[in-house]
Amino acid sequence: MEAKKTVLISGGAGYIGSHTAVELIGAGYDVVVIDNLSNSEEASVEGVRRITGRDIPFEIVDTCDMAALRSVFAKYDFDTVIHFAAFKAVGESVAEPLKYYANNLVSFMNIVEMMKEFGRPNVLFSSSATVYGDAETLPVTELTPRKPATSPYGNTKQMAEDILRDCCAAYAGLYGIALRYFNPVGAHPSALIGELPRGVPNNLVPFVTQTAAGVRECLSIFGDDYDTPDGTCLRDYIDIVDLACAHVAAVRRMTEGKMEGKFEIFNVGTGHPVSVLELVTTFEKVNGLKLNYRMAPRRAGDVPAVWADTSRANEVLGWKAECSLEDTLRSAWEWEKRVRGL
Ligand code: UD1
Repeated sequence: MEAKKTVLISGGAGYIGSHTAVELIGAGYDVVVIDNLSNSEEASVEGVRRITGRDIPFEIVDTCDMAALRSVFAKYDFDTVIHFAAFKAVGESVAEPLKYYANNLVSFMNIVEMMKEFGRPNVLFSSSATVYGDAETLPVTELTPRKPATSPYGNTKQMAEDILRDCCAAYAGLYGIALRYFNPVGAHPSALIGELPRGVPNNLVPFVTQTAAGVRECLSIFGDDYDTPDGTCLRDYIDIVDLACAHVAAVRRMTEGKMEGKFEIFNVGTGHPVSVLELVTTFEKVNGLKLNYRMAPRRAGDVPAVWADTSRANEVLGWKAECSLEDTLRSAWEWEKRVRGL
């Protein structure tokens, strides 16, 4: 029997969800997008439609609303859900922990509950390198012990991984994969979709592109006295299209029944550490501009360095990051220019 080819994407109007929708469609899947638009715009679904030439079903649904979610499960026939819908601002989660625990955990448990109720098998969960905290050995493999979370946001990622593991062990028909993303950056080469943070960006690349566009006056580089080659933090910046392709590989593994256990975890990064300063100078070089930046004190909660050992994803998923940092920083700037009408 041919595997069912429809994937429900919760949070599909968001940054990672919209890029994943494009790549899934390119790989021959149908997608259904749900999103409550709390931190995203319907325009990104329109962007996905324009890129793919497909009329994608989209419903404004909050995954915390069990009744609304149940109607989606009743209406569409899919075997696989990718659950992106979540809040993701680390600082805000420290200030408003209940908001994060309620939203991120209830929405995820609702998804799993519906999978069980409707007998749908495959859940792909968006996890994060944040689960490793300040790791003792680098690069981190999937077997590197998780550290106690330093924020409620990080805690929701750890807890959701555990919830999925336990539910897969308990419920016969349920299979799960957690992808631990490193730092997703860049935009689709068409510049029709990209990252659109509301308010002042927390993350580095949107702050860089907004500074280049004149929306922000000056980028602060948080800390130049770390024990790293140039004193700034090291991260693993993964191109958003590469990241989206990792989801396609994981979905394929699930829908083709190739999983070895019931729950699997994969790091999704490039395997290469890049410093904040290196990222900034590369951005300047490839886009031919000067960025206004200054050194600033360390940001609370930042780890000095984290990057991925990607062997498992390379070997088991048959996936590998391909886009260069140069190309991804070009795409990030093209997107910002389009958003600002530059
Ligand atoms: C953070 C979260 C991670 C989450 C990711 C995406 C933690 C510890 N980190 O990663 O879980 O998945 O965001 O939302 O939970 N920087 C500057 N100036 C800025 C902004 C950032 O110098 O204006 C530096 C930071 O100090 C850091 C690097 O840039 O060294 C990357 O920061 P950021 O983009 O915020 O990502 P992370 O903190 O690595």
